[in-house]
Amino acid sequence: MTRISVIGTGYVGLVSAAGFAALGHDVIGYDIDEQKIATLESGGCPIYEPGLEELLAEGRASGRLRFTADLGAAVAASDVVFVCVGTPQADDGTADLTQVEAVARDIAAHMTEGTVVVEKSTVPVKTAQWIRRTIELCGGRGFSVASNPEFLREGSAVQDFLEPERIVLGVADEQAREALLDIYAGIDCPKVVVDIETAEIIKHASNSFLAMKISYINMIADLCEAVGADVRQVAEGMGLDSRIGPKFLAAGIGYGGSCFPKDVRAFMRIAEQHDVNVGLLDETDRINEARVARLVARMRNDLWNLKGKKIALWGLAFKPGTDDVREAPSLRLARQLHAEGAILTGWDPVARETFLRAVGELPVEICDSPQDAAAGADAVIVVTDWPELREVDLASVAGRMRSPYLFDGRNWLDPEACASAGFWYRATGRPGVETVPGQAS
Ligand code: UDX
Repeated sequence: MTRISVIGTGYVGLVSAAGFAALGHDVIGYDIDEQKIATLESGGCPIYEPGLEELLAEGRASGRLRFTADLGAAVAASDVVFVCVGTPQADDGTADLTQVEAVARDIAAHMTEGTVVVEKSTVPVKTAQWIRRTIELCGGRGFSVASNPEFLREGSAVQDFLEPERIVLGVADEQAREALLDIYAGIDCPKVVVDIETAEIIKHASNSFLAMKISYINMIADLCEAVGADVRQVAEGMGLDSRIGPKFLAAGIGYGGSCFPKDVRAFMRIAEQHDVNVGLLDETDRINEARVARLVARMRNDLWNLKGKKIALWGLAFKPGTDDVREAPSLRLARQLHAEGAILTGWDPVARETFLRAVGELPVEICDSPQDAAAGADAVIVVTDWPELREVDLASVAGRMRSPYLFDGRNWLDPEACASAGFWYRATGRPGVETVPGQAS
């Protein structure tokens, strides 16, 4: 059993805290946001994440998981401190590390000798060095710094934490190595023990590679559209090659979320600072940024003017299984369609509040069901691949629309079912399955 404190209870911090308690450790979670801590102390869960509420409840019941708004007390009572605070994107695309720095100073003031300080937030390479220097500058001695990047995905974060495909441990001394291997002893998976800089690069390199895979298939989707090929079949044909693999080859409206867009840009900036050409990542980002404009252009081609047209957004979260809308394509789409004069409605099973907060003044009428959002609409766009959308009675939706036009931004619905329900169906990179009048094949 290790005494652990987790600084920052966002997605990564909260799931990690609950996960460490489930592994049998004694965990204190800290957050600067006292409201959040009050929620957690009173048995609540501030984010929507499948399985997390139950895991938190188990941790609390076992007495191994507590929360506090007192960072000093948490650090002083711990052998290992995990730093899980936010690393938002600064205006120039670099990672803003001011929260990490502030926490490093606070840790220095309260830690005891032998403490292992572990960065778990996604940070640029060399951040651990800065943490070490900051703690030393503030008088800290006899401590270790390590890097343990987290690869969990929103929507499956609990499972990703407890059953990961690998655990990456960046260490510079035996004390940190042993402490981290002990903490994860209960998890059976490959443990990649490397130096700290290597661990930091593994995280950014992995996320950038996955983002690149998505932009790559989106580029292929555009080509498929131009030549009449089907990107889903292309992806299937490519993915059967085990060197490529079938995952992260779903073409559509592009990636969003708190990680990919921000991490790709932060990785680019760090590479540029070291004179490494990052044209490949630049293009990954550019292709992704252009996805929404391309979809809107295709709609304009089909529907003529968008001004005054009522358009329903089916799904608002950046992906299914979460209420997170950070960098979600839905936001960019809503802004672009609004700028063209469209009237917007939206539906999402869980992201309604987060979307409304993020979209601010922009008028979007949020409805209780996909059917209600589409009633009287000129077009529906599948923005998030929620399983619920596959259960919708398409014929009744089409019957209630002003014009039954459906743009599948995720290639999520069955084109034949859409066509037989009476929809003009538009896909992404699959012209052969489309049923837009005059263009059907
Ligand atoms: C990602 C990484 O997967 C995870 O390892 C890291 O720790 C954090 O970033 P997450 O942001 O939760 O996780 O979502 P993920 O499931 O990876 O999807 C990211 C985005 O890519 C979503 O917007 C999703 O819709 C999109 N996507 C994914 C595609 O457009 N096509 C695909 O084939 C896969």
